[in-house]
Amino acid sequence: MSNVAAQVNAPAYVKNTKLIAWVAEMAALLQPKDIHWCDGTTEEYDRLCAQLVAAGSFKKLNPELRPNSYLAWTHPSDVARVEDRTFICSARKEDAGPTNNWCEPAEMRAKLQTGEDALFKGAMKGRTMYVVPFSMGPLGSDIAHIGVELSDSAYVAVNMKLMTRMGKGVIDVLGTDGEFVPCVHTVGAPLAEGQKDVAWPCNPDTKYIVHYPETREIWSYGSGYGGNALLGKKCFALRIASTMGRDQGWLAEHMLLLGVTNPEGKKYHVAAAFPSACGKTNFSMLIPPEGYKGWKVTTIGDDIAWIKPAADGKLYAINPEAGYFGVAPGTNTLTNFNCMKSLDRDVIFTNVALTDDGDVWWESMTDELPAHLLDWQGNDWTPAIAKEKGAKAAHPNARFTVAATNNPALDSEWDNPAGVPIDAFIFGGRRSTTVPLVTEARDWTEGVYMAATMGSETTAAAFGQQGVVRRDPFAMLPFMGYNMSEYFQHWLDLGAKLQAAGHQLPKIYCVNWFRKGADGKFVWPGYSENMRVLEWMVGRLEGKANGSENAFGLSPNYEDINWSGLNFTKDQFQSVIGIDKAAWQQELKLHDELFTQLAHKLPVAMPATKAKLEQRLAA
Ligand code: GTP
Ligand code: SPV
Ligand code: MN
Repeated sequence: MSNVAAQVNAPAYVKNTKLIAWVAEMAALLQPKDIHWCDGTTEEYDRLCAQLVAAGSFKKLNPELRPNSYLAWTHPSDVARVEDRTFICSARKEDAGPTNNWCEPAEMRAKLQTGEDALFKGAMKGRTMYVVPFSMGPLGSDIAHIGVELSDSAYVAVNMKLMTRMGKGVIDVLGTDGEFVPCVHTVGAPLAEGQKDVAWPCNPDTKYIVHYPETREIWSYGSGYGGNALLGKKCFALRIASTMGRDQGWLAEHMLLLGVTNPEGKKYHVAAAFPSACGKTNFSMLIPPEGYKGWKVTTIGDDIAWIKPAADGKLYAINPEAGYFGVAPGTNTLTNFNCMKSLDRDVIFTNVALTDDGDVWWESMTDELPAHLLDWQGNDWTPAIAKEKGAKAAHPNARFTVAATNNPALDSEWDNPAGVPIDAFIFGGRRSTTVPLVTEARDWTEGVYMAATMGSETTAAAFGQQGVVRRDPFAMLPFMGYNMSEYFQHWLDLGAKLQAAGHQLPKIYCVNWFRKGADGKFVWPGYSENMRVLEWMVGRLEGKANGSENAFGLSPNYEDINWSGLNFTKDQFQSVIGIDKAAWQQELKLHDELFTQLAHKLPVAMPATKAKLEQRLAA
């Protein structure tokens, strides 16, 4: 073994000299008290969880009610992604584009690594540095990519075990000279000699989530939560991977992937982009309502898709992840039965409430409220307290981490390195008004326009004001690694290339499950009932289902949807499908604002499509 390998405590099976040298360099910068190389075994997972329990970071849940499961409560300042602290540090500002926070790479490196008070200097003092090798995508597959995350959080290490293919197998694939994306993560809370640790170490004042797209590096400081800290997910599989996709001719998307099989046994694959906390996990695990005998929906992925054109001219998609980091509140046996079954055991819960018998609870999990529990901050919670103070038992962005293999609806092809062929793309925001339940784009360009101009009301998945409509192109606003206008062009180019070669492109749809009535309630029942919209799409793919053209695209008429088993009137349908002229004129002003912001390099097809929309609206 080399000197350096011994210095960084590398196991004998680590042969990649670049990896060893990088770990040594980072150890010198971060100054951890020791280094642990994660092998990804169950024994290691159990040991780290036990250690987190001993440290007070985890509570072990009642094994009779929730076997092999844990609960973590975070610091109240560390509960969601921090978009204003997320940076794309490309060499040129225009390559990050107007939708991203940008900082000159040298300036950022000075702040984080090289300057006198650089944040990462000594940031891991008093802590263990975990070396977490992970593969996004099936191990050794052509489309998979490897990352190595250095983190001073055992919480991150155990979450990465569930969320990715993690451990020794990845090191084996790396061999002596394989490539990896270096990911450095610290909670930004070094411990002085003898200083007692807290249950959720983080840096409440300073956070940086930094990406260098050219050198494909990720540096994350100050947060231990979700997408800020599990660097394989948004940082790698979306922000870094989107730039890889731009350079190499593929797509990294914030999309669920599902299979839908009809009673004739014909199977279609659908990729759907909804913004954070807007229904991807739910839609990917949908159970068709009664009256849909013979229909089946199976999950390939619930959050991220990597999509590549193959030799047959089709777009093939894989789920680069191996687990789900999903929203808990709102999940119950009626809204998402498959998800609830997935959560029966082997789960890490974060920021849900703890019941008196050692189980978990969150808003709308059960009809009946528990008489007493501890809320996500450890305070007493009763239905009376909730009523009086409006106190939430679970944080609205409380989440579960669970391996995909726990999902009873897991698609048999979920792990297929070749991926699944996509038949349709769906884009959908959370809009109480204006946007119809479902619209089909008349062609690829109109579909790209729909995706590019999508708006959505903000949710608790990101820090900041909730419920305000913002443009969220392709549900990628917080996850784009390069210039948004160039990304639109990348989508247009990909479609044009396939079409020019004579291939049929997937159909593109825009949906909105979230229109509200005068009473402020959702009109569309959603969840399982979204199957009716999915069936209409499958009917369209088969040339069987009808619809009518409108200003925006093509939507079903009342009689084009299968209503068996649901009492949903023509009036109700009208209120979720109708296009209100005045509202759309307002909406188009917001498209204008977006296009003004994105004017540099905006594809001409975008304003041209808008002009046609305006004409139709005026007609
Ligand atoms: P991220 O993990 O943040 O990317 O979120 P996601 O897109 O996977 O969202 P998820 O499926 O977890 O749903 C988020 C919230 O939306 C939950 O509270 C759900 O109950 C709610 N939701 C999901 N589908 C529907 C629907 O069809 N109708 C309504 N009204 N609410 C829904
Ligand atoms: C999202 O916000 O879209 C998530 C959760 O999927 S996180 O991993 O925190 O980004
Ligand atoms: Mn997401």
